[in-house]
Amino acid sequence: MNVPAHIAIIMDGNGRWAKEKGMVRLKGHQAGMESLREIVRACSDKGVKVLTVYAFSTENWKRPIEEVSGIFSLLVRYVAKELKELNANNVQIRMLGDIDPLPADAKKAAQKAVDSTKDNTGLIFCIAINYGGRAEIVRAARLLAKQAAEGQLDPASIDEAMFASQLYTADLPDPDLIIRTGGEMRLSNFLTWQSAYSELYVTDTYWPDFTPDKLQEAIDVFNGRDRRYGGIKA
Ligand code: IPE
Ligand code: IPE
Ligand code: MG
Repeated sequence: MNVPAHIAIIMDGNGRWAKEKGMVRLKGHQAGMESLREIVRACSDKGVKVLTVYAFSTENWKRPIEEVSGIFSLLVRYVAKELKELNANNVQIRMLGDIDPLPADAKKAAQKAVDSTKDNTGLIFCIAINYGGRAEIVRAARLLAKQAAEGQLDPASIDEAMFASQLYTADLPDPDLIIRTGGEMRLSNFLTWQSAYSELYVTDTYWPDFTPDKLQEAIDVFNGRDRRYGGIKA
């Protein structure tokens, strides 16, 4: 059985999970943090090379301030609670997205997580936070335009590989499998460039109910897929 090298997850459904239980939305995000801990461990154990999770989108700022700050507080808590074990498991943490506008303590926690795990050689665990696929593409275009304006780059030499090298995911393989929990059939601005040939798997299960067994189900489905990349079967 094949294990996808790069699994990316849209961790959706926290709010609905909480609402159905008569709880406030933030309780759903809290419960989601527990799922995340187990899924990171499972990916590490299965030998997945890269796990990317969508934690906060560039559009999620539209939510009430209490929810937004609650989510960032959870990031602080996650790092405080998990960093030791992640280090012990040789996990390397990366942030995809612009962490600058985050509240100071969240930004600090994010930087600490990245810095203290940067030499680890196991699972690469990417947290997409204040991430948007379109913002990432615009940023890459700007970086290349700057080099061209400075005379260091011939625009005619820009190709897909060069463009990809300016994305947050520069040295990472594209996701093989994108899982979305919570049932919505859309990507919501996640990995817009990188998802070109990703296999999509949507489950109605809300993120707080997503377990390593359900992850395995998704991987099993992935293994039954025929990835043609525009070609035809041999
Ligand atoms: C996903 O869960 C987590 C974030 C977007 C931060 P939601 O909060 O979107 O949960 P639903 O979709 O409202 O149930
Ligand atoms: C996508 O979920 C973002 C994250 C999971 C972080 P949303 O709940 O924000 O997406 P929409 O609004 O349903 O498209
Ligand atoms: Mg949602």
